Amino acid sequence: MRLHPDALSASTPAVAPPATAAANDHADYRHALASFGTGVTVVTTRWQDLDWGMTCNSFSSVSLEPRLVLWSIRREASSYEAFTRSGGFTVNVLSHAQQSLARQFATGSLEQRFKGVPQERLASTRVCLPGAAAWFECELHQLVDAGDHTIVIGRVLEYASQETPALSFWRSKFDRFGTDAN
Ligand SMILES: Cc1cc2nc3c(=O)[nH]c(=O)nc-3n(C[C@H](O)[C@H](O)[C@H](O)COP(=O)(O)O)c2cc1C
Repeated sequence: MRLHPDALSASTPAVAPPATAAANDHADYRHALASFGTGVTVVTTRWQDLDWGMTCNSFSSVSLEPRLVLWSIRREASSYEAFTRSGGFTVNVLSHAQQSLARQFATGSLEQRFKGVPQERLASTRVCLPGAAAWFECELHQLVDAGDHTIVIGRVLEYASQETPALSFWRSKFDRFGTDAN
């Protein structure tokens, strides 16, 4: 949706911008949202003796003191219960070299997602992905219902990072942040 220029001016009378077909167009809305470039993460957890993981780009830092981060999960996601009931999660910030994992962890069964993926187990028993640009070990702090998603807020207990180009996602395409000289 493009804002009518008048809608930005405080001095003009409050007249609604002209309605267009695009105003109600879901695809157009998603396209506008896709203007906002992000990094890409794979969030993992351990629940009912199984490893769970999903690709997620809604990750963000919330608070430095205490150290809180958030991401949001679709309420219909097959791993919704695992992430909201397991008590914690690990955020792996993907490096550019891990682009294939972004696709692998967005589809398929749990077994397919972890198949052939180099992985280490943290003290929490959750999986972290070696080669990630960073990882953050979190205990669940708060769940906030928000429409068709739930915002998952975690308190960071441990983290690590390395200087490697990170995977980026913009306009529905993967690319990179940084250079090999990083
Ligand atoms: C780049 C990218 C970012 C994504 N970000 C999120 C996200 O922030 N939250 C979410 O719920 N799903 C996100 N998804 C979709 C999930 O990864 C995907 O729906 C989920 O793994 C599918 O699980 P299910 O079909 O087993 O429910 C993203 C997918 C991709 C490719």
